[in-house]
Amino acid sequence: MFSVAIDGPAGAGKSTVARAAALRTGMIYVDTGALYRAIALHMLQAKIDPADALQVVPALSAIKVELSYVEGRQRVFLNGEDVSEKIRTPEVSMATSAVSAIPQVREYLMETQRGMAEKYHVVMDGRDIGTVVLPNAPLKIFLTASPEVRAKRRYEELSAKGAPQNYEQVLAEVIQRDYNDSHRKAAPLKQAEDAVLLDTSNLTLEQSIAELVELIHNRRMETQQ
Ligand code: DC
Repeated sequence: MFSVAIDGPAGAGKSTVARAAALRTGMIYVDTGALYRAIALHMLQAKIDPADALQVVPALSAIKVELSYVEGRQRVFLNGEDVSEKIRTPEVSMATSAVSAIPQVREYLMETQRGMAEKYHVVMDGRDIGTVVLPNAPLKIFLTASPEVRAKRRYEELSAKGAPQNYEQVLAEVIQRDYNDSHRKAAPLKQAEDAVLLDTSNLTLEQSIAELVELIHNRRMETQQ
């Protein structure tokens, strides 16, 4: 199976770009952030502090997180309930940053992630896909953009959903999450040595997708997969 590992900070446009590129190249898009988000949602619902490993780790045994695809779109299920929408709130985002720093949470999700890459040609996006989850992926991308550009995009996304926040607050959250994600001990966000850097600060969405599609085509030709 051919895998594309896409890592990068929050709000770089990874999911939109990766999903579109997967569709155009006939691959399955796997958003691993949704798996971490489902775990965080469970902790919030169970009134468990997502930063407290002593509470979070035992609670993992009561959780089943699964992915399925409906009309080509990924859906995430938490103990049988489709939580794909519920996991997209700022509160869940912050809690996810906390639970994802716990090594046992990362280990817990490893099999699901690797299992997808064994079964399908995947474009998998996350924070440690090229460095930890799929270290042998034939194509690794580090997709990023400046914090200001990322905050602006997220701000517009939230406003469009009717959940406006002020821009300064969104920027502060982007910076805080970058810091958490790149300074944690367990699988911190960093560019794999053999990853291609794709900076989308000055690219339109269409240009970013086209670049990624071309990288995928070229690498598949080179590796004949
Ligand atoms: O990509 P996202 O915004 O849905 O990610 C939510 C959080 O999950 C983010 O704080 C980083 C974390 N995450 C992670 O640690 N490892 C992954 N493979 C994906 C997400």
